[in-house]
Amino acid sequence: MGVNVKELLEDLNRAYADEWIAYFYYTWAADFVEGPCYPLISDRLDKTAAEEHEHMSELSDRIYELGGEPERDFEDLQKIANCKKVVFPENERDLESVVKAAVEAERCAIDVYNKMVKKLAHCYDTDIRTFHLIEHILSEEIEHEEAFENLLQKK
Ligand SMILES: [Fe+2]
Ligand SMILES: [Fe+2]
Repeated sequence: MGVNVKELLEDLNRAYADEWIAYFYYTWAADFVEGPCYPLISDRLDKTAAEEHEHMSELSDRIYELGGEPERDFEDLQKIANCKKVVFPENERDLESVVKAAVEAERCAIDVYNKMVKKLAHCYDTDIRTFHLIEHILSEEIEHEEAFENLLQKK
């Protein structure tokens, strides 16, 4: 079975929007957190944000290669995103809730990329490059989730 490029471009653009949203919230939260574990959590959020930004660029490159265009309207990014929001607590010292929100966000990303990998596996022969890109991003999302979960266990 061949690739449905129109559907694939929609999926890639939704994931592209997810990465922007994760990048925004993690960058915001890195400056928001306070308390004794502050540097550990803040560094982890910054590091993860940088990787989400990298994912966003990789997806953007692939969208262009396939003849599409990444979403150019900022307002529409949230409309098309699968994972629309990361809800952080009101209190910047509630570090457990900050980290739990990041774990939830990573679970949403893992779910999205898992579904994409399964879809792409059906047309592996015709689009190996997208398959490997999504597989690579998925493995990094799993690493992110584990890293945030480890922070929870340290408490
Ligand atoms: Fe990501
Ligand atoms: Fe992630």
